[in-house]
Amino acid sequence: MSNKDAFITAIKNGYTFKGETIKIGAAMLDGEVIPEAEIFLPLKTMNRHGLVAGATGGGKTKSFQMIAEGLSDASVPVLLMDIKGDLSGIAAAGTINDKITARYQSLKMEYKPCTFPVDLLTLSQQKGVRLRATVSEFGPVLLTKILGLNDTQGGVVAMIFKYCDDHKLPLLDLKDFIKVLQYVGNEGKAELQATYGNISTTSTGTILRKVIELQQQGADVFFGEKSFEVEDLMRISDDGRGMISVLRVTDLQDRPKLFSTFMLQMLAELYAVCPEEGDLDKPKLIIFIDEAHLIFQEASKALLEEIDTIIKLIRSKGIGIYFCTQNPMDVPASVLGQLGLKIQHALRAFTAADRTVIKQTAQNYPETTFYKTEDLITQLGIGEALVTILNEKGIPTPLAHVMMCTPRSRMDVLTDAEIDGIVNHSKLVAKYNQVINTSSAYEMLTAKLQQAAANTQANATASLKQAKPEESTLEKVANNTIVKSMMRTAGTTIVRSLLGSLGLGGRTRSSSKSWF
Ligand SMILES: Nc1ncnc2c1ncn2[C@@H]1O[C@H](COP(=O)(O)OP(=O)(O)O)[C@@H](O)[C@H]1O
Ligand SMILES: [Mg+2]
Repeated sequence: MSNKDAFITAIKNGYTFKGETIKIGAAMLDGEVIPEAEIFLPLKTMNRHGLVAGATGGGKTKSFQMIAEGLSDASVPVLLMDIKGDLSGIAAAGTINDKITARYQSLKMEYKPCTFPVDLLTLSQQKGVRLRATVSEFGPVLLTKILGLNDTQGGVVAMIFKYCDDHKLPLLDLKDFIKVLQYVGNEGKAELQATYGNISTTSTGTILRKVIELQQQGADVFFGEKSFEVEDLMRISDDGRGMISVLRVTDLQDRPKLFSTFMLQMLAELYAVCPEEGDLDKPKLIIFIDEAHLIFQEASKALLEEIDTIIKLIRSKGIGIYFCTQNPMDVPASVLGQLGLKIQHALRAFTAADRTVIKQTAQNYPETTFYKTEDLITQLGIGEALVTILNEKGIPTPLAHVMMCTPRSRMDVLTDAEIDGIVNHSKLVAKYNQVINTSSAYEMLTAKLQQAAANTQANATASLKQAKPEESTLEKVANNTIVKSMMRTAGTTIVRSLLGSLGLGGRTRSSSKSWF
């Protein structure tokens, strides 16, 4: 058998699967596309996570745009983190050009432009569905990790959540949390110490400083009502395709802390909400995180451990996470070791450090007699990649140099008018974008302090009147009819925050377990 025939046999054996698949291209040998050596991804192992790596311009974003399309076609919902703002075009049909024609001739395939069902999401004021979460949902454990607090400070945060639960003070946004923190350090100190023990002013000071730092990164837009229900990421469109949610986070590039805060909360929420699934034929949700180094580069050790744990566990919920990054070494080794699919676009060897990365990367791929992996990594053309994935038995498929298919949707952004069209027709925009002004800890504590001040004055001027049995200030606040109605509207939040303070986090259902 010639080398080419042996190669075709190896690829066909390696990439033939029993269950549903997505075709991503055809394998290449010695620079030549071999159309019959088709490369498929098995949907069954797509929850085993993945990595798309390579230098800028090599085709990373287009590769996962194309895979996202295949998933949508197979009724698998997708969430795309659009960091650079070049993914919204997935809602529009692609246009053919000479390069695509040549690529498809070599693949012996027909290029069929197509639109996909898309929802545009935002963490800020951009057009689209607003994603938010309340501080209560965030819970004390995650908040402690994201703020980088030590155990003593974490204890104070846990105590504040407990205090708010006990006194039915909803923590919706950071303003609420700051107000309680200030109260705990000043007027309320004696009251709290009587019930919960000593609270150091140094700790409340440090926590306050860190919360303000988070606020300065713009976290205010993210914390609050109406909180996003992660089930809405797993919708199927009316025509049976998986919805593709494009989260446009172009404005977060320079605010990595906010981005990782959001990511972690969302993954924790997904973990809490989704039931244990065992082995599914296809995933329930696939998340692509473009420019993923933003998540890892500023993460503390505690946060990295948290990400590591979530990635390990979320797989059993049928959720796969795909990191897209320039340098595969941006992803911590513990996470890298858990990734089932690897797509490596070209790397450039300018410096000694680059050559080390290339060597290490090559060693992380299955051994092959058909390629000199280390050399090939630097020679890959645009839209070509080295690929391996776990097969249905969990064994890595043979390494393949793949001429990737082209996204059938537009490889460019949407126009403003097109964005307006999507936003105006979105069911989710209607659900989430109304402004809710629920009264929460901030308003309630402010009312409490004002009432306490008014009482002191009233006591002085009306000391002759017969005194009723004295209510505590808090009882007075709680008995105030306005406050009562406020508390009713915030009732669900209180339940959540109770769960949050137990470390369960999020809209926890009875089936979910603590994973911290
Ligand atoms: N699979 C592909 N088919 C056709 N053209 C591609 C493909 N992948 C990449 N390209 C071309 O290369 C350009 C850069 O790709 P992109 O995915 O944005 O790179 P990266 O994300 O790695 O920086 C695209 O705009 C497109 O013109
Ligand atoms: Mg890109």
